[in-house]
Amino acid sequence: MTLLRARGLTKHYPTEEGLLDRFLGNRQWVRALDGVDLEIREGETLALVGESGCGKSTLGRTLLRLEEPTAGSVYHRGDDLTSLSTAEMRARRADLQYVFQNPTSSLDPRHTVGELVGEALDVHGVARGRERDDRVRDLLETVGLRASHANRYPHEFSGGQRQRIGIARALAVDPELIVCDEPVSALDVSVQARILNLLADLQAEFGLAYLFIAHDLSVVEHVADRVAVMYLGELVEVGPTEAVFSPPYHPYTRALLSAIPEPDPLWEGDRIVLDGSVPSPVDPPPGCKFHTRCPVASEDCGEWESHPDLESVGGDHAIACPYYDRVESTFGGD
Ligand SMILES: Nc1ncnc2c1ncn2[C@@H]1O[C@H](COP(=O)(O)OP(=O)(O)O)[C@@H](O)[C@H]1O
Ligand code: SF4
Ligand SMILES: [Mg+2]
Repeated sequence: MTLLRARGLTKHYPTEEGLLDRFLGNRQWVRALDGVDLEIREGETLALVGESGCGKSTLGRTLLRLEEPTAGSVYHRGDDLTSLSTAEMRARRADLQYVFQNPTSSLDPRHTVGELVGEALDVHGVARGRERDDRVRDLLETVGLRASHANRYPHEFSGGQRQRIGIARALAVDPELIVCDEPVSALDVSVQARILNLLADLQAEFGLAYLFIAHDLSVVEHVADRVAVMYLGELVEVGPTEAVFSPPYHPYTRALLSAIPEPDPLWEGDRIVLDGSVPSPVDPPPGCKFHTRCPVASEDCGEWESHPDLESVGGDHAIACPYYDRVESTFGGD
């Protein structure tokens, strides 16, 4: 069952322009998100991957209407979230929570952990008085902290513990979906594994769905049911994890996969090394946005009216590249 469905979701930010440009009317836009269609299903982990700056956080934030989209819709239980009033949206937010990449900047240092977690309960009127305090202590224990930690301040905790506090806050209102925006990127590898285990345990216990944002594909392989790959504000591949991690590939996915250090000496595929970084989303390449870096591009790829659409390559697996079969013939499979 679909939990959340985005249609044509678009977010363009104004660039920071000089006075002269403003005077001349040369307003420019950062095309962070360019018409994305995506569904998140009940109880699943959908990973969203791509290089830094390709629009993952923007997609996560506009999906939950933490930012207003420039265009497009997000459907949740039959309603378009983009047309709900502020009060209606506030009520809906109990179902749709967000855990930020940087737990240090997302936790107000002036409040105790008990206040930070309790605040989420207050906003949604979930519990009051003794019941509220009990619930805060339960939540802290659920995420692997101690009930007595409620009286301490965020700076007294390690990065991993702070991320647990962020997760407790999200969990407080009994959500259906948590957008986890690079929840382990800032943590040591050993701490990462423990947070990933915690997220898996919570999912099993509470039937949560996750949109799990990551720039590192190696993390995703073990946690995701499905994977969506993003490049310059566009989805280029979506499918079940095992389908995305094996041929056929979008050329960009293949490049991301070959950047993972390969422990298996039988790895036969040639590595694709991408030149440079993601082009500016202020003036993205025409046609297929990946054509300036694509190892199998032909001239026509840069001449199309728009970026190619996602097309099914079998079942639930879709790729936005009409020439995806060139990847295997040029670079081999996996
Ligand atoms: N509030 C904002 N104002 C202007 N540009 C923004 C804003 N937020 C993000 N961007 C730009 O949008 C693009 C996508 O950013 P982001 O969604 O954060 O990417 P990712 O999460 O994949 O690293 C980047 O070029 C970024 O600089
Ligand atoms: S459409 Fe062309 S440029 Fe884009 S990914 Fe496919 S082959 Fe590469
Ligand atoms: Mg981000």
